[in-house]
Amino acid sequence: REKVTIQTLQKLRESNVPISMLTAYDYPTALSCSANPSIDVTLVGDSLAQVCLGYKSTTQLTLDQMIHHASAVARGQPILSYSPDDAVRNAVRMVQESQVEAVKLEGGEEIVHLVRRLTSIGIPVMAHIGLMPQRHVALSGYKVQGKNVACAKELVRTASLLEEAGAFAMVVEAVPKELGRYITEHVRIPTIGIGAGPWTNGQVLVWDDAMGTWNGHKAKFVRRFANLQAAREQGVQGYADAVKDGSFPDPVRESYTIQQAEWTRFL
Ligand code: KIV
Repeated sequence: REKVTIQTLQKLRESNVPISMLTAYDYPTALSCSANPSIDVTLVGDSLAQVCLGYKSTTQLTLDQMIHHASAVARGQPILSYSPDDAVRNAVRMVQESQVEAVKLEGGEEIVHLVRRLTSIGIPVMAHIGLMPQRHVALSGYKVQGKNVACAKELVRTASLLEEAGAFAMVVEAVPKELGRYITEHVRIPTIGIGAGPWTNGQVLVWDDAMGTWNGHKAKFVRRFANLQAAREQGVQGYADAVKDGSFPDPVRESYTIQQAEWTRFL
């Protein structure tokens, strides 16, 4: 498949072809994404903190940890974005050290200057509005955003500001579907929804939510497309049973042998 660029995403938007984005945090997962021509973007999201590293919140993740995982993903998949701290220096480090091609920033008006600065030095920025998990404390939890007129208007305003500042695309998280559609119709850059209804230009899910690798909280907008946790548990049990009952390894199929003559001489 041809390399997916910002222009590709814009073309998908213009031709009403939904953009598919999935998160990945390591090399094998990135390969699964890049091997599938229907996945347009792989995102090293800072959801890494919870689903992969066992932290309670994305705010506990360090930049070094982000770079470590983003580098692994970049080796398996050339297109991705991620969420760094809101500092140009950190974004530059991410791009240089991880070889990612873009950064994703959660925030509204207060990050407009940063979006402008990063795009001006050639670092493409994917914005992230609506529910911003990095601010779950300030937002009093992981709640649907834009449910009243004032908040909805503020989100539309923010979306326009971020577009004007140069964001090439925008994640819209946990907003009513009507607002997801309205924002999509009022900006000219692709919107990628997560819990924002079916009418955004694309969709993103966290890998572990979509593939069922864990049984953490399942938000309303998550659909499980696989049950990797069950498969993994079955595999672990099978391995443990086979070791315990002595059936693994098989002396012929899973063991090496030495020529009988050599063995006799050895003895
Ligand atoms: O961090 C993340 O994985 C994200 C996606 C869910 C959009 O922000």
